[in-house]
Amino acid sequence: MAKKPSTVFFCTECGNETSKWMGQCPACKAWNTLVEEKVSPTTGGKTVRRSSNAEAVHLSEINMDKEIRMSTGILEMDRVLGGGIVQGSLTLVGGDPGIGKSTLLLQMCENLARENHKVLYVSGEESLRQIKLRADRIGDFNDNLLLMCENNLTDIEAVIKKEKPETVIIDSIQTMVNEEITSSAGSVSQVRESTAVLLSIAKGLGTAIFIVGHVTKEGTVAGPRVLEHMVDTVLYFEGDRYASYRILRGVKNRFGSTNEIGVFEMTEKGLTQVPNPSEYMLNGRPLNASGNCVACSMEGTRPILVEIQALVTQSNLGIPRRAAVGTDGGRVNLLMAVLEKRLGMHISGYDAYINIAGGMKMTEPAIDLGIVMAIASSFRERAIGDDMVVFGEVGLSGEVRAVSNADQRVAEAAKLGFKTAVVPKVCLERIGTIDGIKIIGVSNLTEAIELV
Ligand code: TYD
Ligand code: MG
Repeated sequence: MAKKPSTVFFCTECGNETSKWMGQCPACKAWNTLVEEKVSPTTGGKTVRRSSNAEAVHLSEINMDKEIRMSTGILEMDRVLGGGIVQGSLTLVGGDPGIGKSTLLLQMCENLARENHKVLYVSGEESLRQIKLRADRIGDFNDNLLLMCENNLTDIEAVIKKEKPETVIIDSIQTMVNEEITSSAGSVSQVRESTAVLLSIAKGLGTAIFIVGHVTKEGTVAGPRVLEHMVDTVLYFEGDRYASYRILRGVKNRFGSTNEIGVFEMTEKGLTQVPNPSEYMLNGRPLNASGNCVACSMEGTRPILVEIQALVTQSNLGIPRRAAVGTDGGRVNLLMAVLEKRLGMHISGYDAYINIAGGMKMTEPAIDLGIVMAIASSFRERAIGDDMVVFGEVGLSGEVRAVSNADQRVAEAAKLGFKTAVVPKVCLERIGTIDGIKIIGVSNLTEAIELV
């Protein structure tokens, strides 16, 4: 077998490895994503035969009597994790630089330490003094928290084996170095191998490990997506840097449901939880304004009400301008085509701007009806009642289709004082009646638009 070359090329998108440079990655077909990296030769392709004492076990033999979940002390975070930190799990926390990943994890450490769990916070980015400065802003820490500034994984592993913490934070994976790999910190192979080492520590010692990963411009964790396959849980911490709220979103979770979100607000004393995001998102909305419509989207198991704003104006361009902030632009174009064709609303010559107020990003089809109503309201310059909430998926023939958890959505609207809910007709039976809110079922767009 030929010896491995000492230089290989990695795709920064998918982590695919090739021996020569190419303009396009042969695996994921992305352009200009291959980067050169030096790797030290492995065993040279020789497989060492050894006698094995591996064994398989019966499901019933697995001992489960010890509680394997630890609460982070942050309710919003527990929810995203599926009920707490699982022993021996590897969690990746991704997000833009400066969004608050270190702050969130340090706050989690504070809570864990208070509950008598031993935690180790390893920073490869900041000095001990810098961490102390941040810690002082957040709260009181006790002696169960150990800090360490280190980049070398071998040393980190030794400390973990010596101190035996229950939870370890690695901030960030891009600064970690595995000495066996010759390429520099932050490179694809380094990030991948470092994660593999951490994975074996987590599974071997039963330590829960959180790794912080910075996100690239394109929105994926810097380095290969391979990382997402290796870890048990992937959380993204997102939000507008200029707005104060932050959303922790679960995109992969081997121990719970995904798409669950936790909402936080960044204050001068660290992050605080936002237990009722709908109230927060609807705060200060203009009343009696045309083009505004309150819709309801399910984020994980939680219904969230948001205001959808539309501005439809006569275009003086050959091709009208369409822009969507916080939702899918293609979907908006599709819905406008449905309005034009099925309702005879002549909006093809109009510019349209759609915005989800509050900076939330929502792509659930259940907000379709809200987008359509907002567009129609702006086009006709007639306001939708301030106490009305709408949801439903819109089909290409202008029909309003069923959505999941309709009853929960209406209940949330009723809780916030809304008086009317416009829902898909097929969902009426499931919802039944809910005190204090009038429920109107619509089967197509014509019926819905009449309410504007
Ligand atoms: P940080 O956790 O360092 O971000 P990351 O680790 O994701 O790069 O958060 C840094 C930002 O948070 C910084 O702009 C300052 C702000 N911040 C506050 O507003 N209040 C606070 O109490 C703390 C600790 C940070
Ligand atoms: Mg940080």
